[in-house]
Amino acid sequence: FKKGELLYTGKAKEMYATDDPEVLWVEYLDQATALNGKRKVAVDEKGLLNNRISSLIFTDLAKHGIKNHFIEQLSDHVQLVRRVKMIPLETVVRNAASGSFERKFGVSHLMTFDQPVLEFFYKSDALDDPFINDSQVAALQVADESTVAEMKRQALLVNTRLQTIFAEMNVQLVDFKIEFGLTADGHVLLADEISPDSCRLVDKTTHQSLDKDVFRKNLGDLTTVYQEVLKRLATVEGGQ
Ligand code: C5P
Repeated sequence: FKKGELLYTGKAKEMYATDDPEVLWVEYLDQATALNGKRKVAVDEKGLLNNRISSLIFTDLAKHGIKNHFIEQLSDHVQLVRRVKMIPLETVVRNAASGSFERKFGVSHLMTFDQPVLEFFYKSDALDDPFINDSQVAALQVADESTVAEMKRQALLVNTRLQTIFAEMNVQLVDFKIEFGLTADGHVLLADEISPDSCRLVDKTTHQSLDKDVFRKNLGDLTTVYQEVLKRLATVEGGQ
């Protein structure tokens, strides 16, 4: 595959075309952002670590019947993915209270839920990704009802599998965000990335954060923490 023109620059990734119209070239950048991109710093190895972590997780999910856009990892910072039309929604699944949920409802940190909580946020930098409910999604024609139902179904399957993977790493999966796209023939396909940038992970023994909260809250060195996540994941997934 040949790297083509730059299509999109995100907060932590760049997307390029390739010589195959169905395939995109994704470069994971060594930088971290917070506050919707208002705070941005270079972080050694972060792109490499997230590329590897996301590649391992997407490979595992595919093996467990959850199809996704990942094709293959090409190099330290590059992976190939299948081109989809992104649905402008962030799907958040929560197993315990943290972040915006904890703030919004004033509940105790890591209060656990009997059932996972599912939320959608409308992707808009200008609006700061506001919460959006199903009828608002319908009113704005962001996605049709069957697409929303399929996103929820897949999100809960992803949650179940991720909880298993992270449990084997002695890590609690507090919450995570995923994104979906539509294939040319209209199927909902898991896309974007799954990494410590988009998950809240807590060590089950020490209760230490092993995710981007380390950056958001200045809790320590992000690279060290992401290296630890990759080390444990690589062990669970049977080596690099
Ligand atoms: O901030 P909040 O508690 O709503 O975040 C829920 C989950 O979604 C967290 O795991 C967070 O890392 C992730 N998230 C994300 N990108 C955003 C907002 C949240 O990956 N823009």
